[in-house]
Amino acid sequence: MIQTLSKERAQSLFYVGGILLLFLFLALGFQTALDLSSQKSLYDSSVDHELSANVILGKTLWDKNNCSGCHTLLGEGSYFGSELDTVFSRYQGHREAIKDSIRFIDTYGIRERRVMPRFKFTESELDAIVDFLRYASEINIKHWPTPIKG
Ligand code: HEC
Repeated sequence: MIQTLSKERAQSLFYVGGILLLFLFLALGFQTALDLSSQKSLYDSSVDHELSANVILGKTLWDKNNCSGCHTLLGEGSYFGSELDTVFSRYQGHREAIKDSIRFIDTYGIRERRVMPRFKFTESELDAIVDFLRYASEINIKHWPTPIKG
């Protein structure tokens, strides 16, 4: 025998379910508000996180030269090159090494390998890019997207 829901039962199911979901919604909203208020800032370390003129210049160069056409930063961009919000820590904060990896592209005549375009950045522009990459590396992304090694 097929049993159908009576109108009254369907109504009470609707109200009980609705109230439960409303409580769930309010509880999760409350928990998020608590989480946000306990989070001091977006950043992990105690380094000065003001957007310095250099960081801003680095970001401008990043955009102008379409770095994200090949690289990802905080998960955004393309997968041709490596993830670059981790580059500062992967290179253990070695600024010159990062600058060299942007500056020198020696393909040793190998044609079937991925290469960086040869940009003509000045020293101060390279410094600004490194400052920007450092700034990006210090953003607390709470493990999302999962940091990908380069
Ligand atoms: C056309 C694609 C392309 C563009 C655009 C590009 N890159 Fe790259 N980049 C690469 C590739 C490919 C590599 C890996 C090169 C290698 O292994 O020799 C690389 C390597 C790097 C590295 C070393 C990363 C590591 O994990 O060791 C840095 C830093 C870097 N790029 C920064 C930049 C910046 C900054 C820009 C923008 C100004 C930029 N790239 C634009 C393709 C690109």
